[in-house]
Amino acid sequence: MQPTTLFDLSGKVAIVTGGGNGIGAACCRMLADFGATVVIADLKVADAQKVADEIGASGGKALAVECNVLRDEDLIGLVERTIAECGSIHVLVNNAGGGGAGKESPFEISQQQFERPFQLNVFSAWRLSQLCAPHMKAAGYGSMVNMSSMSSINKSPAISAYAASKAAINHMTANLAFDYGPVIRVNAVGPGAVRTGALASVLTPEVEKRMLAHTPLERLGEPEDIAGAVLYFAAPVSQWVSGQVLFVNGGGVQTLD
Ligand SMILES: NC(=O)c1ccc[n+]([C@@H]2O[C@H](COP(=O)([O-])OP(=O)(O)OC[C@H]3O[C@@H](n4cnc5c(N)ncnc54)[C@H](O)[C@@H]3O)[C@@H](O)[C@H]2O)c1
Repeated sequence: MQPTTLFDLSGKVAIVTGGGNGIGAACCRMLADFGATVVIADLKVADAQKVADEIGASGGKALAVECNVLRDEDLIGLVERTIAECGSIHVLVNNAGGGGAGKESPFEISQQQFERPFQLNVFSAWRLSQLCAPHMKAAGYGSMVNMSSMSSINKSPAISAYAASKAAINHMTANLAFDYGPVIRVNAVGPGAVRTGALASVLTPEVEKRMLAHTPLERLGEPEDIAGAVLYFAAPVSQWVSGQVLFVNGGGVQTLD
């Protein structure tokens, strides 16, 4: 591999779920900067369109698609539209997700509330991977990147549903690497605390101070920090890397408690 091609995504098509904001939007911009045509799938299609317009304005190629990853018909429609408009699929970033926020006390939540992070974070990623895999095989290049979290290995109060769903992502990633190899690689990125709208809803100055006390690099993450790890997994540079979880966390641990 030539040094110039290690990170080259020219001619590749990448789907990013939850690409309208936060980490997903940064992933879209980064993948487009390195040559990919990016399909930005989000519940909030106006936000996805804004990211697509920014990418277009800086010379890249992007398509915004309205998609709720909890709806099977939306996932099927996303894949069909990508093939119809972009011709193939090489990279899938299963980023849409959420839950937790330290509000999952088992004394207060129902079984349905426990199940929701699994539907959003795990089941949707499994299903979209299943739908994309045949197209990646046909294209002869495939990289799936699942968005995990440091919560998948941390131990904290009132976050058991989210944390368990992200731990499931880690093990699903390692096992699907066997099912989808050798053409398709499956990896995950586990962010620490990253400055997005989702974090802003729970971050107080006191919580931030405690987080920084346990962070060698002495700052919280920015969405671009996570996008860099996603780029690594998406690009040919990681061609012998599969089944792995890369934690991107400033070298430390940031919890809400
Ligand atoms: N921000 C953090 O500190 C942090 C830490 C660890 C892991 N993560 C993970 O990173 C991912 C992105 O988080 P973020 O902080 O960027 O969130 P965010 O709230 O900033 O952005 C999430 C995006 O996903 C979209 N979305 C939400 N539900 C959707 C659905 N059902 N279908 C399609 N799109 C949907 C939203 O509209 C939004 O555009 C999540 O999987 C999250 O669990 C975030």
